[in-house]
Amino acid sequence: MASIVELAKRLCEVSEKSYLNPYTYITWQESMPKEQWFMSPELISIYGTSEYDKLDLKQKQILSFYESVNFFSLNIHGEKSLVEGIAHRLYSKELKDLAPYLHHFLDEENKHMIYFGGFCQRYAGKVYRNRKLEIPREYAKGEEDFLFFARILIFEELVDFYNIRMSTDETLEAITRQINLVHHLEEARHLVFGRQIVEYLFEKYSPSWSEKVRRNIQEYLAAYIVTTWKEYYNPDVYTDAGLPEPYDLVESAWNTESCRAHRKKVSAKIIEFLKERNMILEEPVL
Ligand SMILES: [Fe+2]
Ligand SMILES: [Fe+2]
Repeated sequence: MASIVELAKRLCEVSEKSYLNPYTYITWQESMPKEQWFMSPELISIYGTSEYDKLDLKQKQILSFYESVNFFSLNIHGEKSLVEGIAHRLYSKELKDLAPYLHHFLDEENKHMIYFGGFCQRYAGKVYRNRKLEIPREYAKGEEDFLFFARILIFEELVDFYNIRMSTDETLEAITRQINLVHHLEEARHLVFGRQIVEYLFEKYSPSWSEKVRRNIQEYLAAYIVTTWKEYYNPDVYTDAGLPEPYDLVESAWNTESCRAHRKKVSAKIIEFLKERNMILEEPVL
């Protein structure tokens, strides 16, 4: 624990130094013309399918707008449960020494939702609904905390790939690029913290877990990566972009080889992290 407390102290200093006012960081414009790029084309969920290739530039850009709203919505839902879980653990016996950093975590995630929600509500008039369902169950000692931080880590690692790419994409609409940039900068700290706490909790509790509990955790985390990816293919996005047969598009993108290769590439780092530490056994089928 001593090394995480040290790390948390350093992260607190950086968070304090780079503290941002979310109400002045972005200058929101009144309206948002949709004929520009909001998502780097190669990150659009159906990029690489024959259906995508048939779209003209205007259709691709309108699709990129709704894809971005979906990406931001996924972030909001991830952050909502994250804030809930961190708030629940704040000053708990296990994590009380990390409380100063957890306050930054909460603050920064709240700000992220202000950016993401600000964009979605202003320009799309909505946030896409949450499709993830968590079923309450009994946990072994330390299992719930471990899974909570492992889920955050998986989610943030995947998102960060998108943020990094889009924060430097000069063809992207300026506010979208700015949101991706600020998110990447703050998430970089969350990721360092996340890797450490996940390792710490696993090392502390896994020796006491039965073989069955360990196996369940490994299967759950592999499945969680797949579920997270499935949410990138949102039929409501395709409907809003005016594309026919939205459910067929979901299927098509899931089964297209280049889309599969994209999912594997983006997930490679986190899968390697989890595999090296026996937190998953086999690679999830993406
Ligand atoms: Fe965030
Ligand atoms: Fe984060």
